[in-house]
Amino acid sequence: MAEKLWGGRFSKEIDRNVLKYTLTTDIDTRLIRYDIWGSMAHLAMLRDCKIVSEEAAKKIFSVLVKLYELNEQEELILDPELEDVHLNIESLVIQEIGSEYGGRLHTARSRNDQVVTDTRMYLRAELLDIQKTLCSFIDTLLKLSEQCAHKIAIGYTHLQPAQPISLAFWYSCYASMFLRDLERLESAFHITNLNVLGACALAGTSFPIDREMTSKLLGFDRELIHSLDATSSRDFALQTASTFAILMSNFSRLAEEIVIWNSHEFRLLAIDDTFATGSSIMPQKKNPVVAELVKGRVGRIYGMLMQLLTVVKGVTLGYNCDLQEDKPMLWDAIDIIKNTTSILHQHIENSKYRSDRAEELCWKNFSTVTELANYLVREKNIPFREAHRLTGLLTQQLSTEAMDMRNTAFVREFLAQQSILLSEKEIYNCVSPIKVMERQCSTGATGPDRVKEMIRKLQQELEGFQSKIEHHSQILKDAENATLNIAKNMHLKTIIGT
Ligand code: ARG
Repeated sequence: MAEKLWGGRFSKEIDRNVLKYTLTTDIDTRLIRYDIWGSMAHLAMLRDCKIVSEEAAKKIFSVLVKLYELNEQEELILDPELEDVHLNIESLVIQEIGSEYGGRLHTARSRNDQVVTDTRMYLRAELLDIQKTLCSFIDTLLKLSEQCAHKIAIGYTHLQPAQPISLAFWYSCYASMFLRDLERLESAFHITNLNVLGACALAGTSFPIDREMTSKLLGFDRELIHSLDATSSRDFALQTASTFAILMSNFSRLAEEIVIWNSHEFRLLAIDDTFATGSSIMPQKKNPVVAELVKGRVGRIYGMLMQLLTVVKGVTLGYNCDLQEDKPMLWDAIDIIKNTTSILHQHIENSKYRSDRAEELCWKNFSTVTELANYLVREKNIPFREAHRLTGLLTQQLSTEAMDMRNTAFVREFLAQQSILLSEKEIYNCVSPIKVMERQCSTGATGPDRVKEMIRKLQQELEGFQSKIEHHSQILKDAENATLNIAKNMHLKTIIGT
């Protein structure tokens, strides 16, 4: 059994079941890299502040560099006996160079500030990654939109046919929604990217540490100054969880549309064979399982938000082990969000919208009657409410006779009886779905010029996000390299004995 670093005040070994119940080494695997990077930055600061000697620092750095490399090769396996990543790394250092030197690494820090530092470092990297994945999805949606500003789709309200829209309008709607998710992810990134290292157990420390220095080496935007707040708070995780929940609800609406549009009754969207599965008994089946699973997984993401909210609600200030429960669900959510973003992206790229079917449904379901009412207002100076009543009556009569607006002779006759004279050609031009769609010209409308204008704006917004993501990724990369360089230079000094 490995010796406990906190074992001094204990006269008995920990119960096996207690160890099993409390350890986090499985979950902490994702934190190894950050725990080592964090330890390097902490040690560089301790040395600069003359809290740890040059000699001790050199020796500790030499182990940390080795451990970092070992982890890069995925060969650093955490020992469950040592509870968590923090005690594992520290023990490995001590094992290698002895306590006289290695025992100095944990000066002026605590697992309480370490665990939040590591979690924030890991999470911010994932938040950037998720943003990149979402950017690429939005980019595809906008590219698809560019190609179909004149293609017809059908727009619903109450899931009843409402008005014709363009296919570009449908694709770009999701781009427009997801851009706000990007904004929320960016905001979660900034709330997360704060340095808590140096808060120690809860009260700060009597050592003259330099928290700004570790912020720089760890690539944080700045310090979360208040030590008690820094060690107690998990609102960065909550903000991320709620951002994930909203994103997933948006994904779920798209998934729901995929399922419905793909059904035989609608036949508006043909999903690719590669994105469906069959039935073990019904040979004719082709089921939209990816979209169904996206909807099904939403529950896990919402559940995670509820779990996290519940974990923190009754925790007094200062670290409590309750808080340890934040990570398993957060990890799970990160994986679900990443996988869902990329699979939905592929799903949309591999599905075909049937504009011909949409046009037919627009005709059959009177989705352009509003435009006939508008025409009567514009050309015949009829009040809108009266035009609405007349065209409503016309719709009722046509549908009773199993006809639609393509029966222009009937429509002409109906209007003539109301002393409204329109030619059949005029009627057809007025209510043809494609023409109606193209005529919508208000700001934000579905008409091609307006949609193209929106696509351009959304594209610019997307580029703005992309360059910010690039910028933040670069800062993190540079900070990690700078820390590694300090550690490696010191490590070199150990090897050549200067
Ligand atoms: N493994 C713990 C967690 O995941 C971090 C260590 C907490 N500190 C303590 N004194 N038990 O939250």
